[in-house]
Amino acid sequence: MTSGLPEAKVAVITGGTRGLGLAIAQACAREGAAVIVASRTPASVEQAVLSLKKEGLQASGQPCNVADLAQVEELAEHALNIFGRLDVWVNNAGLSAAHGPTIDVLPGEVTQVIQTNILGAYHGSLVALRHFLRQGKGKLINVLGRGSRQPVPYGNAYAASKAWLRSFTLALAKEYKGSGVGIYTFNPGLVDTDLLRKFRVIAGYEERAKMLRMIMRMWAKPPQVAARKALWIASDATDGRTGLDINLLGPAALVSGALREGVRHLLRRPSPAIELNVISVPAAFDLSDREQT
Ligand SMILES: NC(=O)c1ccc[n+]([C@@H]2O[C@H](COP(=O)([O-])OP(=O)(O)OC[C@H]3O[C@@H](n4cnc5c(N)ncnc54)[C@H](OP(=O)(O)O)[C@@H]3O)[C@@H](O)[C@H]2O)c1
Repeated sequence: MTSGLPEAKVAVITGGTRGLGLAIAQACAREGAAVIVASRTPASVEQAVLSLKKEGLQASGQPCNVADLAQVEELAEHALNIFGRLDVWVNNAGLSAAHGPTIDVLPGEVTQVIQTNILGAYHGSLVALRHFLRQGKGKLINVLGRGSRQPVPYGNAYAASKAWLRSFTLALAKEYKGSGVGIYTFNPGLVDTDLLRKFRVIAGYEERAKMLRMIMRMWAKPPQVAARKALWIASDATDGRTGLDINLLGPAALVSGALREGVRHLLRRPSPAIELNVISVPAAFDLSDREQT
């Protein structure tokens, strides 16, 4: 496949050590780009780089917690030191809090979501744009997720963080229109990764895993599918189209996934097994002694 991502481009992918981020790194590197993958866990960074290099791809890595601006600045420095340039920055690092009622979620978990999905993407955008605006070109891709366009009960912190990121990114695109820099949102739809498979849920709400399994059967795709679209956004095909707001789970995909599942049900075909690791997390707030009215 030719994506139009010219060889010798350099792409940084935060959260690039597994799941969607690693698939994006693979897709870019297979087209001839040099990639830098980053995440909080040094061993995962090492492993991801090794897996890319084993394929003969150009890759480097750097441990980086995107919540810390200094570490994100060091990540950009690393890219420039190792490969001498910086063309694409993907703010992909993301996580969610335990699934359940907002009050029951530990405040520390919500803080982590804000620090990674909001502050982390802000730090990445800041660092990438400082560089891109100086060189008058570059592509910044901010990865959205469920909730970027509507509230999501029981997934409130994650959804609200993605709504913030969408608004933030589209405003950036307007501010820097005409600068030569491309700024895009990318909602990859439902992607079959640890983010879904390790289902952390507030104790008492474990039944909701059933719903997740059904949703995954309807709409989840392997990370490589979404990565192909990310590669396209990173390519010359989007030159001059800053502000693109791309959503892989639009109405057509929603309807076709639901129809496929409905037909399977009607024909009584067995459901494909979806293995979830359901992890119960104690509620942070006990409502059992509330006053009855
Ligand atoms: N899976 C889906 O259905 C789905 C749908 C829509 C959008 N997305 C978005 O796609 C992105 C990737 O998700 P995924 O499904 O691939 O999740 P994943 O498999 O859990 O991977 C998340 C990656 O982010 C890294 N990470 C987490 N917190 C970080 C931090 N503070 N600093 C640096 N790296 C951090 C993780 O590594 P460490 O733990 O080692 O740091 C890992 O490499 C996220 O932004 C997510 O919101 C996913």
